[in-house]
Amino acid sequence: MAKSANSNLHRAAKMKNDEFYTRLADIEKELKHYKDQFKGKVVYCNCDDPFESNFFKYFAANFNVLGLKRLIATSYKPSPIANTQLGLFGDEENLTKPKGRPKVTANKLIINEVRDVDGDGAFDLHDIAEQLKANKNNEWAPLKGEGDFRSEESIGLLKQADIVVTNPPFSLFREYISQLMEYKKKFLIIGNDNAISYKEFFEFVRQNKIWNGYGKVKEFIQPDGTTKKFGNIGWYTNLDTIKRYEKLTLYKKYDPKNYPKYDNYKAIEVSKVTDIPLGYEGVMGVPVTFLDKYNPDQFEILGITDRDPNNKHRVKMYTKKDSPKYNDLNRRAAIKINGELRPTYARLLIKSKK
Ligand SMILES: C[S@@+](CC[C@H](N)C(=O)[O-])C[C@H]1O[C@@H](n2cnc3c(N)ncnc32)[C@H](O)[C@@H]1O
Repeated sequence: MAKSANSNLHRAAKMKNDEFYTRLADIEKELKHYKDQFKGKVVYCNCDDPFESNFFKYFAANFNVLGLKRLIATSYKPSPIANTQLGLFGDEENLTKPKGRPKVTANKLIINEVRDVDGDGAFDLHDIAEQLKANKNNEWAPLKGEGDFRSEESIGLLKQADIVVTNPPFSLFREYISQLMEYKKKFLIIGNDNAISYKEFFEFVRQNKIWNGYGKVKEFIQPDGTTKKFGNIGWYTNLDTIKRYEKLTLYKKYDPKNYPKYDNYKAIEVSKVTDIPLGYEGVMGVPVTFLDKYNPDQFEILGITDRDPNNKHRVKMYTKKDSPKYNDLNRRAAIKINGELRPTYARLLIKSKK
């Protein structure tokens, strides 16, 4: 196959993997915890076709309740549902099939005011549609470019924003988060648990600049209307949460018999978060799901045992002489069981705070 065709296919496959739409119920469930942090704020949903995105729908519908100053949403031209006008005024659970496209553009929608314009006594999304038609105090216009979150236009809008809320394309998650950090934005976004193994992302987490939100998101809507389930996707944020001040209750006593020492790291293996031993003062390797229980006043995150040859808690690098599987072993922490070295899953290295 020609190289360009191959890379097109690759791009298409990647693109497809990014097309998972968030259900309104999941957005409501998470957002209810942060309501008081949105007052007077400019919210930007920068991977969100207003006609498809339940993020846009949520913020438009709750514009006055949250006391938002402005809501901005931009769509992405290469998206397979760009300009297909799905969902917004219909049943959010069922994205209908696209019926062919008019000229495809990326669009921006800026809402500054939301009120009951059709006079039915309530504000709803029909009012937004009416307001947009009249173009009163709100703006709906095509973007010059494709609506890429990294484009000048989108960054211009990002600069205006106080809080970014969306489910970004997972294939670009690293770049996405770096940009938010670079522009020092508050955010609440959906991401994969595996993101912790990205070096830069891990550093932000270690430095308490990013933490987990409250819930997991277990199901997404696909462009054909079917749903897809996931077990490893949740919320990341730098908005304040009550959860991160809650202390994890520890029940277990440290007993060296139950907590093997790693062979290549100066730390003990704690294979379940609930087994973190009370009062243990040394370094512990815990599953990455620990993040969900992490209270920075109770614990300190020191490192991660995942593809990090410079980790200062590592005490050994294996060679062929140690084991034919030395590469696997070097990737993570290893335990010696009955004389045989076995790699563990990726572990966060943590320490209790005194
Ligand atoms: C995981 S989907 C989520 C869509 C929407 N935010 C939601 O939660 O329902 C990610 C969206 O980002 C769009 N996208 C992909 N690459 C993008 C880019 N470089 N800039 C902006 N949006 C992009 C995709 O087309 C897709 O619609």
